[in-house]
Amino acid sequence: MTKLRSVTLNDKAQPICELPVLSGTLGPDVVDVQALYTQTGMFTFDPGFTSTASCRSAITYIDGEAGILLYRGYPIEQLAEQSTFLEVCYLLLHGELPNSDEMEHFDHNITMHTMVHDQLSAFFKGFRRDAHPMAIMVGVVGALSSFYHDALDIRSKEDREMCAIRLIAKVPTIVAMCHKYSIGLPFIYPQNKLRYVQNFMRMMHSTPCDEYEPNPVLVRALDRILILHADHEQNASTSTVRLAGSSGANPFACVTAGIACLWGAAHGGANEAVLYMLEEIGDVSNISKYINKAKDKDDPFRLMGFGHRVYKNHDPRAKLMRETCHEVLTELGLHEDKLFKLALELERIALEDEYFIEKKLYPNVDFYSGIVLHALGIPSKMFTAVFAMGRTVGWISHWDEMISDPEQKIGRPRQLYTGASRRDLPPEHIKSV
Ligand code: SDX
Repeated sequence: MTKLRSVTLNDKAQPICELPVLSGTLGPDVVDVQALYTQTGMFTFDPGFTSTASCRSAITYIDGEAGILLYRGYPIEQLAEQSTFLEVCYLLLHGELPNSDEMEHFDHNITMHTMVHDQLSAFFKGFRRDAHPMAIMVGVVGALSSFYHDALDIRSKEDREMCAIRLIAKVPTIVAMCHKYSIGLPFIYPQNKLRYVQNFMRMMHSTPCDEYEPNPVLVRALDRILILHADHEQNASTSTVRLAGSSGANPFACVTAGIACLWGAAHGGANEAVLYMLEEIGDVSNISKYINKAKDKDDPFRLMGFGHRVYKNHDPRAKLMRETCHEVLTELGLHEDKLFKLALELERIALEDEYFIEKKLYPNVDFYSGIVLHALGIPSKMFTAVFAMGRTVGWISHWDEMISDPEQKIGRPRQLYTGASRRDLPPEHIKSV
């Protein structure tokens, strides 16, 4: 939706160009700068894209000031309480909630694709057993791009949907395989009679010698965690998937690029970093020392799980994650869990500290997710892989939206060049043969 508004750019008090202002359904208007370079010979400059909208999207809306997160218009609080992760996957992919037939068909479709090609297992053998699971995820999900040539025409809606189904269905199996590989246990196959999260937890925790009956409270908790991680607008990893996809690359390779980006501690790697940080702090008596380290400009230490590029009030997912954390710890009789109590105290102290208030640093989705994943028996190194499991549907939904966008073209940002001006090689330079 656009309004007939524009802004005028002046240089030395002279108008040099007029740029249209566009409005969406919700959120800030945008200045359409596509004509800026042709009209002025100048680029915009926005490292980190703090003020840049990269695309039109109808998938997720975030209001960072109000702490609002909507998936296709539905509040995350309602979806987390009343929906399931697979229903949210359908919603993100198709834009509307499924009716019962659509849900049954989607669920069946996902179930029928949870197995991976038997040759995919061979890719694990090249990794050290102590390889980080995200390194293996990058390798093995990337390898998926060498399969499934039957449905790789990205111009075909059916093929794009098949890619989405295959990724949503197979990533949990691959994540569980990463875990089993790291502990030297055999891979556990998915079982079609199990629901999505039950299947994952069984693949993670059962062995050929011992069945594993997941606790329904823990299954529900993990299902909710996946809902909270499913999508988040144009975050770094989703933008990476969009940029990779804009060249027409293989969709499995594009999602692999997203996995690589998510691994960073400033992004999805934060949940693992939070747990290590809490273990390093160790006791509530050390909290103020670490708060001071986080405030010290000369100290690279940051309070992991705090701060967000968009949320400058509160991350609505953090509150839901804290509730889930409490539920799981209570169910497991761990409500006296030392790390959880330490996290609660750290959050309390940080939220009363001038520095965090002034810089609007609040707990984000990663602050509590590490503690609850730890309580669910998932090793710290696996936390970001579980984040990737939830975010796969967001990545492929944005990839699909981008491919189907008539405005879509290859992403190719410019730069502010600060290197050497043109210069000749010195006469004495000897041409190396
Ligand atoms: C995710 O984009 C998304 O939506 C991401 C995500 C998603 O769902 O996809 O929500 C998932 O990645 C959540 C964020 C997880 N990362 C962390 O918890 C790592 C710790 N947080 C920070 O590194 C930081 O807050 C970021 C990366 C999250 C946001 O960084 P910004 O927006 O670039 O902000 P900044 O680094 O410019 O910080 C602003 C100021 C700085 O001080 P000044 O230079 O202004 O003096 O706040 C300070 C920073 O030093 N600051 C922190 C801090 N985070 C920011 N100081 C101490 N501890 C922190 N955690």
